[in-house]
Amino acid sequence: MIVLGIETSCDETAAAVVDDGRHVLADVVLSQLDEHRPYGGIVPEIAARSHLEHLDQVIAEAMRRARVDFPDLAAVAATGGPGLIGGVMVGVTTAKAIAAVHGKPFVAVNHLEGHALTARLTDGLDFPYLLLLVSGGHCQLLVVEGVGRYRRLGTTIDDAAGEAFDKVAKMLDLDYPGGPAVQRAAEAGNAARFALPRPMKGRRDCDFSFSGLKTAVRMAIEGLGRAPTTEEVADLAASFQEAVADAVADRCARALDTFRAEFPHGAALVVAGGVAANRRLRERLTALAASQGVRLVAPPLALCTDNGAMIAWAGLERFRLGHSDPLDFAPRPRWPLDPAARKARGAGVKA
Ligand code: KG4
Ligand code: ZN
Repeated sequence: MIVLGIETSCDETAAAVVDDGRHVLADVVLSQLDEHRPYGGIVPEIAARSHLEHLDQVIAEAMRRARVDFPDLAAVAATGGPGLIGGVMVGVTTAKAIAAVHGKPFVAVNHLEGHALTARLTDGLDFPYLLLLVSGGHCQLLVVEGVGRYRRLGTTIDDAAGEAFDKVAKMLDLDYPGGPAVQRAAEAGNAARFALPRPMKGRRDCDFSFSGLKTAVRMAIEGLGRAPTTEEVADLAASFQEAVADAVADRCARALDTFRAEFPHGAALVVAGGVAANRRLRERLTALAASQGVRLVAPPLALCTDNGAMIAWAGLERFRLGHSDPLDFAPRPRWPLDPAARKARGAGVKA
């Protein structure tokens, strides 16, 4: 069974082909980073136009590399949301057109489900497992019980983790996107130099918060009374990164307790999303998993950040369970994985 997957919900134009033997036959990702860099963030209108301009070529390249033709496909999957609606519309419309022309089923995939199921593509992981999803738009802890069966244990009550990295990078006058730039700067820094808060640490729930930490970084910079030196930038980056890693590890420890009380044999903590690329965070999660006797599964970096393979795989998993979607499926700007989860408080909540 071979499935084409299309991802256009953010700033990557991506298409991939996977099969049910867990092989990624092709995975093509075109980043729009250079188009958004002058604005220091993603401009939705530019993103949508760029997807429209490049998606056909990206799909053709994926099909060519996979050495398959449209008639070989079992289904065509595309991200149906959540995300920037203009981009999602481009991907969904293109997938529907291919499906209609070639008489193939269309599968609308929840982008978050793509991240959530990646560990089954890369590691053949069985259900259930605990998932930490940390990206530019999301920061959630979910129990993954099956395809389409997610229970949210916690979410951010303000910013997503990646968003905090990006904003702190701006304050420190570092490159865009901020996460990798903060990590690079932190390498030379002293993480103990600035005492920053660990938001939500020790709380009984599994929620996250990053806006207070962001404010604390701003106040530390203002406290210097002048622009920070290169050394101070490194120390601020290291102190901030350490605070995030510490806070996230604490929230994961809390969630692992909850998860394992319910599933004593649940054996894995999975981390996905762009921030999962952070080396310090990975170190902390590796140590946490080891201390709790569970396995840490962190997909390779290329499959942590947005890509088409995760959409193709989630589409394949849904399709082989008998799910497909009508051609009048409407793209969804918001699409929670766990619709029953209580509403998170706070401004700017993404999930
Ligand atoms: O999953 P992703 O590629 O896009 C979505 O948001 O869906 O995540 C992008 C986010 C950005 O905020 C970026 O700054 C962050 O992931 N990121 C990192 C690192 N690499 C990417 N954050 C911290 N450390 C990194 N090494
Ligand atoms: Zn994503």
